[in-house]
Amino acid sequence: MLLSQNSMLVLSKPNHKQEIIVKTMAGMEEILAEEITSLGAEHVEILNRAVKAQASSSTIYRINLCSYFALRVLVPIHHDVIHDEDHLYYSVKRINWTDIISPEQTLAVRSSVNSEYFTNSHYVELKTKDAIVDQFTAKFGKRPDVDLDDPDLVVNIHIYRNALTISLDSSGGSLHKRGYRISSTVAPINEVTAAGLIKLSGWNHEDTFIDPMCGSGTLLAEAILQKLRIPPQPINRKFGFQQWSNFNQEEWEEVVGQAIEMQLDIPDFKVYGSDLDDRAIECAEYNLAEAGLGRYAEIQKKDFHHYAETTKAHLIFNPPYDMRIESDDIIAEYKKIGDTLKQKFKDSQAWIISGNLDALKRVGLRPSKKMNMMNGPIESKFYKFEMYAGSKKAKYNK
Ligand SMILES: C[S@@+](CC[C@H](N)C(=O)[O-])C[C@H]1O[C@@H](n2cnc3c(N)ncnc32)[C@H](O)[C@@H]1O
Repeated sequence: MLLSQNSMLVLSKPNHKQEIIVKTMAGMEEILAEEITSLGAEHVEILNRAVKAQASSSTIYRINLCSYFALRVLVPIHHDVIHDEDHLYYSVKRINWTDIISPEQTLAVRSSVNSEYFTNSHYVELKTKDAIVDQFTAKFGKRPDVDLDDPDLVVNIHIYRNALTISLDSSGGSLHKRGYRISSTVAPINEVTAAGLIKLSGWNHEDTFIDPMCGSGTLLAEAILQKLRIPPQPINRKFGFQQWSNFNQEEWEEVVGQAIEMQLDIPDFKVYGSDLDDRAIECAEYNLAEAGLGRYAEIQKKDFHHYAETTKAHLIFNPPYDMRIESDDIIAEYKKIGDTLKQKFKDSQAWIISGNLDALKRVGLRPSKKMNMMNGPIESKFYKFEMYAGSKKAKYNK
């Protein structure tokens, strides 16, 4: 079944809406659906680690620039049913690639394969690339080169059982790379995960945002971006859609202009970060300064247990799990975290993401919300702890 042979022509019609698949992290599908709806997408449907919708070209540009929770925005151009590599080769050849890129441009093929018919995703990528470049060689005697690091066109192959979807990757590279994390500590959290945790925690943008184990400062940066409605992507990033033959510079400039207009200017707004480790402080300060967000963050070297009493705080942090960062006594450390929360952060809430469930259980506060999360490859829990002030009884386990 061939649905659309030439999406580039379709996309270039003004206001034409076309199917998009927006990829995200597990657990973030709903907040992504809500977000892309607010950015102009229609008929939004939730999938596994992705959201499907209809979008015009300017909405595709806007999602790429402004989404905090998207990993990449794919534009499907071809669906087929295939059973082997030769079948894949001929199916890929049915698309008119010479309308999509020129022989002077570069290309990369990426795939996700879950199929009993196709077990080697590298071979799937190779076969797809061959089908594309053979079309050019036959027509022009020259062909696009492969460039895995900085390609002009990223072709995405998705095979589930025998169902093939070929998409163009409008993002080019993964959108978790915001360009601000230049320096990194041992176990940094992914930027899209950090953004999602902040949203899922329901931060009201009023209570004081604190990451008391801030590492390279990812949660701090994402909190500032969300609060001030700053697009997470730098406007000079090279997006995939900008290399397409139908790229509309005027539409893009309009999208950028609207995003800049939406930004808030709150000079006295601040988030607070701290860490035990000198190198982490250096990293966080450097990254936030590079992102142009330095004046909104107060970062200091401090042991979490040495905080002064603070109220109306919204803490989000990922303490060491005793995995990538080892610990002498992880259980005692989490127990101490719970003690500090009870003693120092009254009338506040703390959200902790951890891949160490045994340790998390020893915080000694009863979580009022629990979510399952992935922190990279690590299955994790994201727990909310509420600490009350005065007569209202805190939810302590003991
Ligand atoms: C998993 S890393 C946090 C990574 C961070 N979210 C990022 O994106 O880079 C945990 C951090 O907790 C810090 N840490 C551990 N115990 C601490 C304590 N008692 N007080 C302050 N920081 C602590 C470590 O130095 C480390 O940087």
